Amino acid sequence: MSNIFDIVTVRADYEQGAVVIIDQTQLPGREVYLALKTPEEIWEAIYLLKVRGAPAIGVAAAYGISVCMQKVDEVDDFYREFARLKNYLASSRPTAVNLFTALERMEVALLKCQGAGVEVLKRVLREEAEAIRREDAAACRKIGEYGLSLLKPGMGLLTHCNAGHLAVSEYGTALAPIYLGREQGFGFSVFADETRPLLQGARLTAFELQKAGVDVTLICDNMTSSVMKQGWVQAVLVGCDRVAANGDTANKIGTSGVAVLAKYYGIPFYVLGPTSTIDMDCPTGKEIKIEERDPAEVTEKWYTRRMAPEGIHVYNPAFDVTSAELITAIITEKGIAYPPFRDKFRGWKECK
Ligand code: MRU
Repeated sequence: MSNIFDIVTVRADYEQGAVVIIDQTQLPGREVYLALKTPEEIWEAIYLLKVRGAPAIGVAAAYGISVCMQKVDEVDDFYREFARLKNYLASSRPTAVNLFTALERMEVALLKCQGAGVEVLKRVLREEAEAIRREDAAACRKIGEYGLSLLKPGMGLLTHCNAGHLAVSEYGTALAPIYLGREQGFGFSVFADETRPLLQGARLTAFELQKAGVDVTLICDNMTSSVMKQGWVQAVLVGCDRVAANGDTANKIGTSGVAVLAKYYGIPFYVLGPTSTIDMDCPTGKEIKIEERDPAEVTEKWYTRRMAPEGIHVYNPAFDVTSAELITAIITEKGIAYPPFRDKFRGWKECK
């Protein structure tokens, strides 16, 4: 059986003119790689969660715009086409800030080269996209180290959605301390919430932790309270899609309920993510745009036949916001922030 870290979540193949991703919608059953060659294919792969997880979406967008721009040969068209593609790819999903920060970073790199020839512009885009991927992978390692410093051998841990190797360039955010702990013999037992409606916990977290040899138990979302009450969970580790300046955190729908339960049972609730997920332009969670998705994900998906009456009203938000007051600590590649979070964030982001 191959190692989970042999799976490459997202990479650029400039010879093929493609962004190559593992199709996460086919996991765990099939390990299928897709070569995405057009902006439409890249947009659709992000929208349909073939590539997903906040950092992985950012890397896919950066590689995507770089790969597509390699086909533009007129310097006069270059900046206009870049702006068009940037807006288009940014419209694929609204909540994870990494999508926007990666595309903006690509634009800043390009704007620094005004007046340069087209080959230079293309090279700058290739290099910037690679730097985004490399920095993300390095950030995950550091998050793993800081996260592990808060944990003890033999702990029971609980995670929601998938914030592992598949959601980033390499290794993961919430799952990084678990992988590092495994390497160091910590012997964690992990509960993975299945994460309705798209089952990222059942399909992806259970898959990748099992493949890595971690002791993992899958539970339905409504079993979380039960396992906490029995004393089987000593810490909750989750990822993040956008962290507001006050620490309010958007993550997969269901996360805030887990945080409320953790508070009730006195269990530390840790959010793990790169500083690129902190959005200082978003003062609180109220300003975070929450994606709403197709009602069929709730009524039909995964079932052999529809499980809800035709015409029923469905509310299907993809994310929720966990209030900063429920979060014990936020762990990034730069260290650990405890409440109140804002000052630490300011230092990390070197901003107002
Ligand atoms: O809709 P998804 O699967 O992209 O949502 C992903 C999450 O909510 C993850 O927890 C988050 O992106 C952190 S990934 C390191």
